[in-house]
Amino acid sequence: MTDVSAHDQADLDEILSPSAVADPYGFLERLRASDPVHWNARYRSWVLTRHADVGAAMSDLRFSSDRISPVIQRERRKERPDLDLVETLELLNGWLVFRDPPEHTRFRRLVHKAFSPRIIAAMRAEVERIADELLDEARDRAGADGAIDLVQEVAFPLPAIVIASMLGVPPEDRALFKNWSDDISALVFGAMEDPDRHDRAQSGMAELVRYISQLLERVSVEPGEDLATALVQARDGDEALTQEELVAICVNLLFGGHETTTNLIANSVLALARHPAQADLLREEPALINKAVEELLRYDGPAKAVVRLAAEDVELGGRTIAAGDRVFLMLSAANHDPEVFDAPHELDFRRSKGAHLAFGIGVHYCLGATLARLEASIVIPRILQRFPSLTIADQELEWNPVILTRGLRRLLVRLDG
Ligand code: HEM
Repeated sequence: MTDVSAHDQADLDEILSPSAVADPYGFLERLRASDPVHWNARYRSWVLTRHADVGAAMSDLRFSSDRISPVIQRERRKERPDLDLVETLELLNGWLVFRDPPEHTRFRRLVHKAFSPRIIAAMRAEVERIADELLDEARDRAGADGAIDLVQEVAFPLPAIVIASMLGVPPEDRALFKNWSDDISALVFGAMEDPDRHDRAQSGMAELVRYISQLLERVSVEPGEDLATALVQARDGDEALTQEELVAICVNLLFGGHETTTNLIANSVLALARHPAQADLLREEPALINKAVEELLRYDGPAKAVVRLAAEDVELGGRTIAAGDRVFLMLSAANHDPEVFDAPHELDFRRSKGAHLAFGIGVHYCLGATLARLEASIVIPRILQRFPSLTIADQELEWNPVILTRGLRRLLVRLDG
């Protein structure tokens, strides 16, 4: 084990210090170099930063994804448990991403029948239409100085409209989805210090669940061509998704695909504005787009970390991760590990070596990866072509101070330089 002094230890615990939030890569590099299997005293959690460890832990079922059940049990054991909170947590607990095999295996197989790469590929024309519409509106709304908030105008609405449209939500109801998704994200990704996050999540979740349940009832009686119908009809032999699973997966898809894709779009536009030579390369060689999206996911991807709970004692790097301990698997650190990527802090669309972990790996590998890639590969080239002299107008960037995601509160851009 690396010897880390008490002073350094305290410093390395500052995972949410302003400088580590602004530049997680520099912070995580120091952590990987000095203490790659790090016990973070502040968050009482392990923090893994090497690509090899992060990838191995995600494929190792001794690291469990069932991390909501213990919170529910703790709340229930209290003298006066918050029963509304327990109800919200139980809904969350039904999400695919929080289930372990074998339950997860059956659940995912059924969902995959409906949310298949073929169905996603069929969305191309619709995603193109939505992207064009949002970019037209953004241009019309630009202020006298030509500035817009790219998050609010494009990156935030695009994925919400796409998934709502896939599920068969009518256009007039789509704004509701954006608000609920925001409320729930306060609980799942939120700053641990945010005192209102439970209340906001509870009301958002309750309204969303009511809406989704009605949508599912409707398509059971009047099937459509949408994803909600495909999920209701998904069969594997005699098996079908239960009513609870149907609600849970719709919420999980809506939610899982929203903030992440928003951040991918905004982080990518920022990276391109800061690397004009790479932006020019992509304009000149549009066929590079798929490689560019992979590199943008690696370079400054939306998921900084995923969480696991050790189901049993695990020895790693000379340390013992004890049963029940929480572990942060730092995807951002893995994606900048010099053992795997040459010059990891450079943005290079011609990079050929190394596989990033931005969508995870193993049984929980992102179910929406094909959709996220499709959305990014459609909207990014359109932004580059339409606004060739786009510049960042923010003097200082405001990153959300959370451990799990990497996202900007806003991104003010001047469309015409
Ligand atoms: C760039 C955008 C995205 C990123 C970076 C991302 C990242 C991830 C990661 C890292 C995981 C693994 C979580 C874990 O191992 O605990 C995951 C799982 C998941 N993602 Fe995504 N995601 C994105 C977009 C989407 C979209 C668009 C959808 C759906 C519409 C989606 C739905 C899901 C679901 C349902 C899971 C759980 C899969 C399972 O547990 O089997 N994601 N995502």
